[in-house]
Amino acid sequence: MRIRRLDPAAAAGCAALEAEVFAGESPWSEAAFAAELAHPGNLYLGVLDEAEPTRVLAYAGIARRGPAAAPEYEIHTIAVAPALRGAGLGRRLMEGLLAAADEAPGEVFLEVRVGNAPAIGLYESLGFTRLGRRRGYYGPGGPDAWTMRRAPAG
Ligand SMILES: CC(C)(COP(=O)(O)OP(=O)(O)OC[C@H]1O[C@@H](n2cnc3c(N)ncnc32)[C@H](O)[C@@H]1OP(=O)(O)O)[C@@H](O)C(=O)NCCC(=O)NCCS
Repeated sequence: MRIRRLDPAAAAGCAALEAEVFAGESPWSEAAFAAELAHPGNLYLGVLDEAEPTRVLAYAGIARRGPAAAPEYEIHTIAVAPALRGAGLGRRLMEGLLAAADEAPGEVFLEVRVGNAPAIGLYESLGFTRLGRRRGYYGPGGPDAWTMRRAPAG
């Protein structure tokens, strides 16, 4: 599966996969993805269906913020189509984002639902550790999140 950089043309495909993966969890709209994919501080990597290139099979995105001399990063999202999970694709996408961040090293942060064992396992295996628990991060009465951090490379 070829991992490529995604541009705003992939917004509809990302939103379709998002609606499938995050149903009932306020999935991002096509407009939200269009803005994410167009933002100059963001890097999105993903996999397109070779037979139907408007279809997105996996995506992951990272945002860079702060001054150029001391950047910080935030993993914004990652999703792999259910049928393709467990084959190393999520790891490859994360490794691609982290390699890009490591070109100008800085701390990398993310939030993850406390019960999301596959994602937490992936992040821990890549050097993220739990910083703290954020109550109701996904809205009133919703689940808590772990904030996780990966130290700068080098
Ligand atoms: C999290 C997600 C992206 C992982 O993608 P994937 O392609 O299945 O992951 P990989 O096959 O690359 O697995 C990488 C690591 O994740 C962890 N992992 C994957 N599936 C797991 C599971 N069911 N239980 C526990 N850990 C798991 C393991 O550490 C695994 O490493 P290993 O293969 O060396 O054991 C995928 O499960 C997904 O899309 N989930 C729904 C969306 C989501 O929750 N996104 C995160 C929001 S913060």
